[in-house]
Amino acid sequence: MKLLALAVLLATAYSPASALWPQPQSLQTGSSTLRLAPGFQITVAGRGVPGDLLAAAGRTKQYLTSDKLGRLVVGRGADDAHTFAAAKTLSRLTLSLEKGASFASITNEAQKAPEERDEAYHLVVPADGSGASITANSTLGLFRGLATFGQLWYEHDNTVYTISAPVTIADKPAYPYRGFMLDTARNYFPVSDIKRTLDAMSWVKINQFHWHVVDSQSFPLEIPGFTDLADKGAYSSSQTYSLADVRDIVSYAGARGIDVMVEIDTPGHTAVIAQAHPDFVACAEATPWASFANEPPAGQLRFVNATVTSYIADLFTAAAKIFPSTLFSTGGDELNTNCYAVDTPTQAALNASGSTLEEALNVFTQKTHQALEAKGKTPVVWEEMVLVHNVTLSKDTPVLVWISSDNVKAVAEAGHKLIHAASDYFYLDCGGGGWVGDFPSGNSWCDPFKTWQRSYSFDPVANLTDAESKLVLGGQHLLWTEQSGPQNLDPVVWPRAASSAELFWTGPGGNISAALPRIHDLAYRFRQRGVNAIALQPEWCALRAGACDIDA
Ligand SMILES: *[C@@H]1O[C@H](CO)[C@@H](O)[C@H](O)[C@H]1NC(C)=O
Ligand SMILES: *[C@@H]1O[C@H](CO)[C@@H](O)[C@H](O)[C@H]1NC(C)=O
Ligand SMILES: *[C@@H]1O[C@H](CO)[C@@H](O)[C@H](O)[C@H]1NC(C)=O
Ligand SMILES: *[C@@H]1O[C@H](CO)[C@@H](O)[C@H](O)[C@H]1NC(C)=O
Ligand SMILES: *[C@@H]1O[C@H](CO)[C@@H](O)[C@H](O)[C@H]1NC(C)=O
Ligand SMILES: *[C@@H]1O[C@H](CO)[C@@H](O)[C@H](O)[C@H]1NC(C)=O
Repeated sequence: MKLLALAVLLATAYSPASALWPQPQSLQTGSSTLRLAPGFQITVAGRGVPGDLLAAAGRTKQYLTSDKLGRLVVGRGADDAHTFAAAKTLSRLTLSLEKGASFASITNEAQKAPEERDEAYHLVVPADGSGASITANSTLGLFRGLATFGQLWYEHDNTVYTISAPVTIADKPAYPYRGFMLDTARNYFPVSDIKRTLDAMSWVKINQFHWHVVDSQSFPLEIPGFTDLADKGAYSSSQTYSLADVRDIVSYAGARGIDVMVEIDTPGHTAVIAQAHPDFVACAEATPWASFANEPPAGQLRFVNATVTSYIADLFTAAAKIFPSTLFSTGGDELNTNCYAVDTPTQAALNASGSTLEEALNVFTQKTHQALEAKGKTPVVWEEMVLVHNVTLSKDTPVLVWISSDNVKAVAEAGHKLIHAASDYFYLDCGGGGWVGDFPSGNSWCDPFKTWQRSYSFDPVANLTDAESKLVLGGQHLLWTEQSGPQNLDPVVWPRAASSAELFWTGPGGNISAALPRIHDLAYRFRQRGVNAIALQPEWCALRAGACDIDA
């Protein structure tokens, strides 16, 4: 009896229908084989179906045939073939909005403020071959259901099938903000790389692209009215994002249920602005760089100067117009005070006004944030703006906690909404070794490498009271690209970034041993879809769930 119970438990834990990522909130599966009919169709019920939903249904249908993913067992599904002949076939999946809901595009639903996005859906795949269905109250929910549906199937010998029918799922995210940050300033990434990344993000239901588009090293973004910044600050004229590129990326993301939060990091991380406006930047490319910045090149805005402040406010206003998101990150990290201490114009301006640097920073922050708020945006900042500086911020300003997860509590105590982005759990660049030249013993500052298991085991509400826990919007993985480029983008990001996607969709407390076969499955499926996710274990282990666990 006990043995039987154990056998059932194991079968459930390693059930192939559980090869879903992220794990749905509620999942029931059976043990019947069900095949997709050769003429399988996805239809959307109702009139006025938005184009991006129809396109998403088309892509899902395409994946069903092009994935050609063999089940991750020894023989890759050959043992399933004897069940095919007797299996029922599924010829249709129908998507429909629930009563009372009306069609809006996935894009419009995705670009709402995080707390207003409705991503819930119900998915039913009967075992008897009668139609499968996804229902939701929004097209965004239907789209999340499509991503799940696309992960249910394997292929063997030209048969697309599941061995786990019927499937019943009721699903919705634990947190409204599930992001991924990419830095396109240390190294440039072509639009095609960003699009491939957006596709991959959508497969694991990540809904926020945090685009750290510019930094001290380069300014690839062409902002209407401010194109001199990219003309002079991009690595080359071909390493830029034109207005058309931005529109392309924003709409590509939107159609995949992803909102784009741009970041124009200020007042630090702005050395490159000196290329177009030398007078606006203190200690531009000053040496030794380590005296004025955390990495080369040094250079920060002379924010004490009112001309500079209104220039940045105007820049934000112009950038806000090309990004429909409600969120806009203004940065605010790693301000180096030594740079200003030795900057004569800054000291003269402070002397003339009789204010302190902190007071001037407050004025700069208020004015630039007000410019965004006038455009209907919610500014987002890095943690120092709350924990280091004495600036007045609206309590609605979400704070990205990056330096350490130990700082989460203080940000919550300050009453701010927060986004988990802690380097000790979610930085993808850690462990790559030192990169400043001629320093063989150098190491990455956030050593060691953060494994998927490390991120997966993070507790988003550790040490928080119930009231403070409500301030957690979600979290994200981040890729700073000192040592990354298009060459290693996929391997450095995937499948690791999927671990936070599940953490913030399904909620914390996931079992790593039970998750491993599923994340293997995800990585193999990513590769079938052209995203170069790395191996997490020898294939021998991937084909034998649990066999390589430490206690196996
Ligand atoms: C749709 O909204 C109704 C009414 O609020 C709710 O009962 C139902 O659970 C929702 N459906 C989904 C899939 O979230
Ligand atoms: C502020 O910067 C502008 C542009 O560089 C300059 O013309 C002006 O003199 C500066 N004002 C002060 C008070 O330093
Ligand atoms: C600012 O005032 C301080 C204290 O009076 C003085 O030492 C310094 O030379 C002044 N700096 C500038 C640039 O005017
Ligand atoms: C912070 O700024 C406020 C006014 O904006 C001031 O009253 C307060 O003394 C400052 N606190 C510190 C620690 O500087
Ligand atoms: C929670 O508090 C404990 C004990 O103070 C500390 O060791 C740990 O780092 C804290 N964790 C987080 C995520 O803040
Ligand atoms: C975690 O999952 C493994 C594999 O399914 C299972 O053996 C183990 O009992 C689970 N641990 C907990 C704490 O549920």
